[in-house]
Amino acid sequence: MRFLIPSLILIAAIGLYTQYAGTNSSVAEAQQSNALVQIEIPSELSGLATIGKRGFDKNCAACHGENAVGQDGVAPPLIHIIYEPSHHGDESFQRAVAMGVRAHHWKFGNMPAIEGLTRADVKAITAYVRELQRHNGIN
Ligand code: HEC
Repeated sequence: MRFLIPSLILIAAIGLYTQYAGTNSSVAEAQQSNALVQIEIPSELSGLATIGKRGFDKNCAACHGENAVGQDGVAPPLIHIIYEPSHHGDESFQRAVAMGVRAHHWKFGNMPAIEGLTRADVKAITAYVRELQRHNGIN
């Protein structure tokens, strides 16, 4: 009994510590290491942008990175002044998805057309990207 209680406390402490360390490392993982820009994430998204985030995560994030921060050597960040609405209007997102993009701004190669998305899907994805842009001062 004299040893049992301290041992239990020690085991509990180790358990708590590992859990805490585990939480910390998953936060670190959430910060994509090959991101090309650092952005602030809005605490809330509109309904349309929330739907768009799902489409983005499924169809675009593999190249453009989580939250469209880009990936070094893969694809550019869309949260970037180049893609502000006056340079790349919403229709350029529709065109990029429907027809692909020939590399012209970056050295990452071409973007292929993305199959299986409707104009409404792309509209939601664009709304999501625009909300991230606006939150980061790109209007
Ligand atoms: C296989 C990788 C890949 C995927 C998947 C991908 N992209 Fe791209 N995308 C690229 C690359 C690379 C470029 C940069 C081309 C360049 O050099 O300008 C690009 C450029 C763009 C542009 C800029 C178009 C322009 O007119 O300059 C938009 C908008 C875009 N992507 C949106 C999307 C959206 C929305 C999705 C998901 C539905 C998506 N991309 C999925 C690789 C990808």
